[in-house]
Amino acid sequence: PAPGWAIDADVVVVGSGVAGLTAALRCTAAGLRAVVVTKARLDDGSTRWAQGGIAAALGEGDTPEQHLDDTLVAGAGLCDERAVHVLVTEGPDAVRRLIATGADFDKTADGEIALTREGGHHRRRIAHAGGDATGAEISRALVEAIRDRGVRTIEHALVLDLLRDAEGRTAGVTLHVMGEGQHDGVGAVHAPAVVLATGGMGQVFSATTNPAVSTGDGVALALRAGAEVSDLEFVQFHPTVLFLGAGSEGQQPLVSEAVRGEGAHLVDADGVRFMTGQHELAELAPRDIVAKAITRRMQEHGTENMYLDARHFGAEMWEERFPTILAACRSHGIDPVTEPIPVAPAAHYASGGVRTDLRGRTTVPGLYACGEVACTGVHGANRLASNSLLEGLVFAERIADDVIASAPRVPGAPVPHATPVTLPLPVAGARTRIQRIMTAGAGVLRSEASLREAAEALDALHSDAVAGGTDDTKAGEPGVDAWETTNLLCVSRVLVAAARRREETRGCHWREDHPDRDDTDWRRHLVVRLTPERT
Ligand code: SIN
Repeated sequence: PAPGWAIDADVVVVGSGVAGLTAALRCTAAGLRAVVVTKARLDDGSTRWAQGGIAAALGEGDTPEQHLDDTLVAGAGLCDERAVHVLVTEGPDAVRRLIATGADFDKTADGEIALTREGGHHRRRIAHAGGDATGAEISRALVEAIRDRGVRTIEHALVLDLLRDAEGRTAGVTLHVMGEGQHDGVGAVHAPAVVLATGGMGQVFSATTNPAVSTGDGVALALRAGAEVSDLEFVQFHPTVLFLGAGSEGQQPLVSEAVRGEGAHLVDADGVRFMTGQHELAELAPRDIVAKAITRRMQEHGTENMYLDARHFGAEMWEERFPTILAACRSHGIDPVTEPIPVAPAAHYASGGVRTDLRGRTTVPGLYACGEVACTGVHGANRLASNSLLEGLVFAERIADDVIASAPRVPGAPVPHATPVTLPLPVAGARTRIQRIMTAGAGVLRSEASLREAAEALDALHSDAVAGGTDDTKAGEPGVDAWETTNLLCVSRVLVAAARRREETRGCHWREDHPDRDDTDWRRHLVVRLTPERT
């Protein structure tokens, strides 16, 4: 699609979660013209749904080194230690700056930041807000700051592709905008720096904690632009997602790790605790270990869920500490005060993404990535709980500093145009098919057979799209829904190819046919860079 309108900026930030808004605010404070474009409303996206909190060595006796150790253990041998070092050392001050921006965190009776525990952390180091509504508070504070400081925003804007200049440098993005007046239809923001902060891709699976907007748009754009993407096989499945019945699809309610951090137990249908004896941290083992233990127990019992028992908290603690989760459970007819909560693992977080260096730079000059869309190296094969908001915060600040340092000396210098690519549009009904194929073939437990089946089914959908539909199913109309589905298909194919290649079990990548970790052959990353004909 050719752009029908264009605006100029010094930096365009794509996405409005903690990463995108932090980058935009810092660039604006330095006098740059930042434009934030976001697919739905400013406060949609994953940040708002974060419950447990944000991890940082803020407590007495805690140190960045201990946070680093826990992060490396969770990452199962694949973290980039330099990136983790940046995260844990810059994290505490980044959280304090977030508080100074207006985010109101829960406090102890002494007025200190209240800290909880989550899986894989040996200490209480998770700061939280509104009990279990941390992301909502962070989002509120950042959106308010964006509005107060007059940062230009375009909502309902799906990013399509990266624009490049004659030297291959980033020159902006094309967008499809709906319902925003003068900027309706396909248009462009021209800027010499583009920050991808588009969040994750949980919607490639049928059941996920991610909101509907998490369709892998940033990773798909980066792949089409020829940027390197890494570690896509490491999809994290959150162990305790409210189980709403077999076959439930779409966004599912999360039951935060912090509930286990405050002492809830995982039990089977007979009320037997099964994490004790499996790991020294029992219910607070790293997330991949808990998700696997739950899945194994479900297989042994032939059931679709396990239970989280926190009746001993009592009504008062539930109401004060976990009001969001309490309300979500009650709205589905479950009362955690009087009964165990049915839970099962569901897709939660993409540990991989667009490969960046320590300043958030991708392999395409002028293109940056931060937050869930990025692969900075901090998560390795399995992200440590509550490191994601922190990563978004810390690396967004680093990106802003790099954008500011390399900003053009003459503001508003014209940026050359490039031609956007034309995307094949998936056939009608493809989105649900992709999600079911991925859940069946590339879910918690994978094998060569399940992944091959998934790859073949996804390739068939891709061929149908390239052919413009089949006799039975016509290609979709160009528009947000079709382009999102194109992105889902693109990232699913790359994810499955990586999961097939990695013939071992490591972190959150669990292969039934290769059950052991293989440090001889596989202590390395799978890096993908597509040529245009493969997209
Ligand atoms: C949770 O509250 O359990 C989610 C925390 C996270 O994903 O880091």
